[in-house]
Amino acid sequence: MKLLSLAAVAALAATLFLVPFHTPANGRSADEGPLAEAMEGLQGGMRTLGRLVGDPAKHAEAMEPVRAMQGHVLTAFAHPPEAPEGEDAARYALAFRNQLHSVLGELLALEGALFDGDADAAKQRFGNLNGLKKAGHDRFKVD
Ligand code: HEM
Repeated sequence: MKLLSLAAVAALAATLFLVPFHTPANGRSADEGPLAEAMEGLQGGMRTLGRLVGDPAKHAEAMEPVRAMQGHVLTAFAHPPEAPEGEDAARYALAFRNQLHSVLGELLALEGALFDGDADAAKQRFGNLNGLKKAGHDRFKVD
């Protein structure tokens, strides 16, 4: 019995020690919630599109993931991350939505390129999406 309560105390102490290192300052777990889920959706779409955009014969198949990604962007739009200390929250959220607006524009243009069967344009848009992802993460994603 004594051994059991010792183990319980040890487990509690370990939890108290570990939790602060795994919980970001905003109290939100970094890999859950609607924003993280939308981002996972975007990531899945990018993975699928990577093997479809370069081949006009696969452009019909690429339509569905592109449209799904548009939906993920719109979900993310409503879930800006918490602004870092010292930044104006409303301006930060606006900048976040502007960046997503650019992503949505690229996804709509990509859908157009797929309709045209234009593999060069589709690859260009796909590359632009990767650039916007990097810029978005540099500014808004806390590691
Ligand atoms: C095609 C474009 C993008 C892809 C594929 C992508 C992918 C991802 C992935 C895989 C994650 C990790 C999700 C997780 O924690 O499980 C993530 C997180 C995040 N991304 Fe993106 N992303 C993209 C564009 C953007 C843009 C444009 C922004 C900003 C406007 C952005 C902001 C963030 C933020 C703030 C997080 C952290 C979310 C959290 O911890 O709750 N991402 N993204």
